[in-house]
Amino acid sequence: MKQRKKFFGANWKMYKNMKDAEIFFQSALSLKWEKETVFFPPTHLLASLQEKFSKDFKIGAQNCYFEKEGAFTGEISYQMLLDEKINYALIGHSERRLIFKESDELLCKKASVCLSNGLKVIFCVGETLEEREKGKEFEIVENQIKNGLKGIKVDNSSDLIIAYEPVWAIGTGKTATPEDAEKMHAFIRKILQENGFESEFIRIIYGGSVKPENIKELMKQPNIDGGLVGGASLKPESFIQIVNY
Ligand code: PGA
Repeated sequence: MKQRKKFFGANWKMYKNMKDAEIFFQSALSLKWEKETVFFPPTHLLASLQEKFSKDFKIGAQNCYFEKEGAFTGEISYQMLLDEKINYALIGHSERRLIFKESDELLCKKASVCLSNGLKVIFCVGETLEEREKGKEFEIVENQIKNGLKGIKVDNSSDLIIAYEPVWAIGTGKTATPEDAEKMHAFIRKILQENGFESEFIRIIYGGSVKPENIKELMKQPNIDGGLVGGASLKPESFIQIVNY
C-alpha cells in the first residue's frame, strides 16, 4: 500500500505582521523540519514571504476566491495566488464558515476552481459543540464533504487534504480524544470513498488545540495523517515539536 506522506499546516489566522513573520522564519531556518509543512500567514504577507523564504518553506493562503479577477472587494483570487507562486489554499475553515457565513456551495466553487487550476486544497470540516451534543457530528461532517466537494475530481490524490477540526476544540485547549478523532477520520475516509475519491491516498489531518503534549497520541491513530495547528504554530519552538513529534 502506498504510504500517505504526513502533512502539517501552520494556520496563523489574523496574527503576525511582516516583522514577526520574518523573525519566525529566520529562527525556523536553523531547525530541521522533518515532514511536509506549509505555513498559512495572513494574506498581506503572502507575496513577500514567498519571495524571501520559498527556497526553504512552503507558503499557502488562508482563503481564495473562485473568480479570476473583478469587483470583489476584500477577496484574493486563485490567479493572484498563482501569480505569486502560492500553491496551497485553506478552504472552509470553521471561522470562514461561521463568522463569514461561507456556505457549502460557495466552498465547493472555491475548492473546485483551486484544484482545477493547480492549487492544492486543505478542505476543512468539523461540527460545533451543539451539533456533537445532539449526536449529529457524523451527519454534519458527511454533508460538509458531500456538498463541499460535489462534482470535484482530483487527478493526484495528494492535491486534496481534508482537515477535521471539531469547532469546540479550536483555540479552546480541548482536544478530541485520539479515539474520537480516529473514529471521525475513518468515517471521513469511508465517505470520500463513497463519493468517488481514492480515499486511501487522501490525507486527513486533525486540527483543534494540537500541542506538543498531545500530538504523539493523535499520530498513533492509523487514519490521522498530520495536523492543522493554530495557536501552537505561532512559535517555531512549539511548532517544530509538533511537526517532528
Ligand atoms: P488551534 O487552531 O490549534 O489554535 O486550536 C486550529 C485551527 O483553527 O486551524
